[in-house]
Amino acid sequence: MEKKTILSIQKKKDEREPIVALTCYDAYTGRLIDQAGVDVALVGDSLANTRLGYPNTIPVTLEEMIHHVRASSRGVKQALLVADMPFQTYEAAPWKAAVAAGRFLKEGRAQAVKLEGGERVADSIKAILKANVPVMGHLGLTPQSIYQEGGYRVHGRKPQEARRLFNEAKLLQKLGVFALVLEGVPGNLARRISRALRIPTIGIGAGVGCDGQVLVLDDLLGFSESPSPKFVKKFANLRPLMEKAIRAYRSDVLRRRFPGPQNTYQ
Ligand code: KIV
Repeated sequence: MEKKTILSIQKKKDEREPIVALTCYDAYTGRLIDQAGVDVALVGDSLANTRLGYPNTIPVTLEEMIHHVRASSRGVKQALLVADMPFQTYEAAPWKAAVAAGRFLKEGRAQAVKLEGGERVADSIKAILKANVPVMGHLGLTPQSIYQEGGYRVHGRKPQEARRLFNEAKLLQKLGVFALVLEGVPGNLARRISRALRIPTIGIGAGVGCDGQVLVLDDLLGFSESPSPKFVKKFANLRPLMEKAIRAYRSDVLRRRFPGPQNTYQ
């Protein structure tokens, strides 16, 4: 199978074929999702909470993200590899955004970057594209705005906010982003945006009317102890299984039942 590109992702939209995106964080999960045939492997800044133990996505650094993108690139052979730009690496100064984005391609071996926001970050998007780095947009619930917003919530329920979201989606397309993540957006609004755009939309908590879907790998696999939001479907519940295996190991070591003769060299 050939390596997926931003063109093959666009082709999927043109041919009305759903795009399958999923997060990964290292070579192991990169290989896992790649071999399962996903189209887009996103090293999300959800790395912050899923793997690094931060309370939200604000603290994760550029260096931490590049480290995990580079590791993921060793496992991802076919999917389009997209790196999430962490908080405060692209908002303040467009030239800094371009330099940070470039590092994801050069050092992280990603094929594109993703960043959150619309008009507010338009100059940074322009600078990144000018530096020859493809950009995926992200509108609706943007987790890096948690302190500005005072929490996480569905965006676009009120007509004025829906209009703003719609216009920002059109603006991002005009600027040249190759795809757009819509997060925490009412299904009918996400469908309307998806129909109005030439570029693909990838939904998370935005209903089936998007051109593709993305989930956090850990949510899909049921790694987490905490309850999932409504939009998550646990396709497996691995945490109890993993915990059981670890408890069984501990118990066998304590009772000297492990290692047995079959695990011992003669
Ligand atoms: O950080 C992330 O994992 C994301 C997606 C789930 C869209 O941004």
